[in-house]
Amino acid sequence: MALAALPMLPGWEVPINTTRTFSNILLLDINSKNADSTTATNVKNDFYFFTITTSVVIIRRRKFIQRSLTSSGESDMHPMLNIAVRAARNAGNVIAKAYEQLEKVEVQQKGSNDFVTNVDKEAELAIINTIRKSYPEHSIVAEESGELAGSDNDYQWIIDPLDGTTNFVRGVPHFAVSIALRVKGKTEQAVVYDPINNELFSATRGAGAQLNGYRIRSTQPKELKGTLLATGFPFKQKHHSEAYFNIFADLFTDVADMRRAGSAALDLAYVAAGRFDGFWELGLKPWDFAAGELIAKEAGAIVTDFAGNHDYLKSGNLVVGGPKVVKQLLSKIRPHLTESMSR
Ligand code: IPD
Ligand code: CA
Ligand code: CA
Repeated sequence: MALAALPMLPGWEVPINTTRTFSNILLLDINSKNADSTTATNVKNDFYFFTITTSVVIIRRRKFIQRSLTSSGESDMHPMLNIAVRAARNAGNVIAKAYEQLEKVEVQQKGSNDFVTNVDKEAELAIINTIRKSYPEHSIVAEESGELAGSDNDYQWIIDPLDGTTNFVRGVPHFAVSIALRVKGKTEQAVVYDPINNELFSATRGAGAQLNGYRIRSTQPKELKGTLLATGFPFKQKHHSEAYFNIFADLFTDVADMRRAGSAALDLAYVAAGRFDGFWELGLKPWDFAAGELIAKEAGAIVTDFAGNHDYLKSGNLVVGGPKVVKQLLSKIRPHLTESMSR
């Protein structure tokens, strides 16, 4: 019996309850008569995942969801999303290569507990160059380069070349490239790319959200009981600690558990994929959440600020999830809101 290594197929609907170290996951096409010749390309609609650990084999059955293709078999991706994907993959390559030799990465402190590396800057340049090649007239707001005005300010790209720099620097394999395109102030295209797991989350306004080309949807729990929420600690704004941890304590009694994974862009993408049921964090910058916001919304989540309004672009305070989760999250946050947090 031969087992084929997990292929780099565009789009796996990943089960949320499966052990998922990708390098450990093997695939067997049970439909193939000749299992020895099973390859990445001949898999059918029905197959099994085998997760091999040292002593256990876990088997789960998955079904593919139809990929978004036109009748001619071509991807129907919007051309500007296509460029965003190309830019994100180019940056992802820069990051993944540098991750193999972390000792060579140059780290600088740019603020309180806030770091930037030569890799953030190189990845950002790769994104800007890719966008500029196709759309030299568009304007760009990038975390490390600031505002780069173009001749057409209706089109604005919002870039975080490496969201989760602390994880990257420490060798924690959880970070992403985040690229959004706003047209006349409305986010139209979004990509969040995790280069380590080769997971590409994307969305076009009005056309749903996808993971590696497959449709994803957020969960819609009725209550906080049983939910897994993601959050970010206010590590750059420690004056918010008391209020933040009061909210955390109140919430923690109701939810199943909480994650602080270290990349707001991926937190939002994971809400979209139904891996997390909700997310809340304060003081984010537009590049942290511009892409993830659209992906989460297109997957069925709603996004508000801490007061339940839509002013999160100004405050960077986000509450995300299904409508009932957001409502209950807001009611837990409300009693602890300080003046500066409620804006
Ligand atoms: C950070 C991450 C983190 C969040 C911070 C962000 P960076 O982005 O998204 O999860 O808690 O507020 O600044 O600095 O790694 O790009
Ligand atoms: Ca960021
Ligand atoms: Ca960053």
